[in-house]
Amino acid sequence: MFEHVTPYAGDPILGLMDKFAGDPRGDIKVNLGVGVYYTEDGKLPVLECVKTAEGRIANPPRPRGYLPMDGLAGYKKACQELLFGKDSQVGKDGRVATIATLGGSGALKVGADFIHEWFPNAKCYVSDPTWGNHISIFEGAGLEVGKYPYYDGATIGVKFDEMCAFLNTLNENDVVLLHPCCHNPTGVDLSNEQWDSVLDIIKDKKLIPFMDIAYQGFGDDMDGDAYAIRLAVEKGLSVFVSNSFSKNLSLYGERVGGLSVVAPTKEEADVVLGQLKFTVRRIYSSPPSHGNAVVDTVMNDDELFNQWVGEVYEMRDRIRQMRQKLQDVLTEKLPERDFSYFTKQRGMFSFTGLTAPQVIRLRDEFAIYMVENGRMCVAGLNNANVEYVANSMAEVLK
Ligand code: LMR
Repeated sequence: MFEHVTPYAGDPILGLMDKFAGDPRGDIKVNLGVGVYYTEDGKLPVLECVKTAEGRIANPPRPRGYLPMDGLAGYKKACQELLFGKDSQVGKDGRVATIATLGGSGALKVGADFIHEWFPNAKCYVSDPTWGNHISIFEGAGLEVGKYPYYDGATIGVKFDEMCAFLNTLNENDVVLLHPCCHNPTGVDLSNEQWDSVLDIIKDKKLIPFMDIAYQGFGDDMDGDAYAIRLAVEKGLSVFVSNSFSKNLSLYGERVGGLSVVAPTKEEADVVLGQLKFTVRRIYSSPPSHGNAVVDTVMNDDELFNQWVGEVYEMRDRIRQMRQKLQDVLTEKLPERDFSYFTKQRGMFSFTGLTAPQVIRLRDEFAIYMVENGRMCVAGLNNANVEYVANSMAEVLK
């Protein structure tokens, strides 16, 4: 019956979690694999704003009816305000179709299914490299996926001219998947001037920008990280935006994300919203209620909202400190090498430049886990392990 079914090789990121959990070297092991924020004590935080919101939600206990296919109204409003700004014109005009989704992955899936259905000739282009699941999700939705030049290992920057030249060769309605901030896996972002040029090309060539923002608040700040999204809207582009509250609310397992599609008119936005709901209905019907309620409660209460922003910035600042410390210790150990990229890259990730054999050595000899492409989740570092990690890295780099 299942003879023809081929084995699943496992996920290069999520698979690391199992390997890490099964590693008996409990006293030294360090998890720098999956993109999850850990505190200075190495714990997964429950944010204070979330604790307060959950207290309110639980008292009195609420009945658990089905949510609407597109999620709670307050959740959708929160997504729109964070992405496009409070009182944004596009929001007031009703030109944004937003749905709550099962995390950022769910938003990408619903968006990819929608594009495959309504733009059947579209191909999707992702940065080289990108988060591996981008490719899987778009291919899984039936789109052909290609790569545009992005990361330049020689300069630890962006191959910007090559990227622009490549985008100029694409066809109308091809999808360009972009990371507005905290590029995953490299931590290397476009500058505001570069965004301006890229979005002009996208507009000229009538491409579809699809912006995936999973780390809002971890780069510059809430508004600064949404710069590219707001610029796309300003330029009159019909942009798709997938967002996630997994990291910035530390609600990973609740699967809290959103998909917003900006349309030229309110009428078109309404039609798009209807089709997004239908897409949701035929995959999973409606989103789960708990995460929707938490986000709704935190984001629509000024005090909790401000508390939340402060908590995100604390996480952001701790990551920056760890970047600095790692850079300092490595520079001391290997002064002939330039490690300044650690503090130039932004967000949770650093593309370390380590090769796969070096990453495997780190895991086997030192119990330090990171993704085989050399991506380190800096948010797994703390004062107790950063020197050990730096010394071990210096060892494999020698
Ligand atoms: C990551 O890139 O590590 C995170 O986004 C988690 C995931 O699902 O891969």
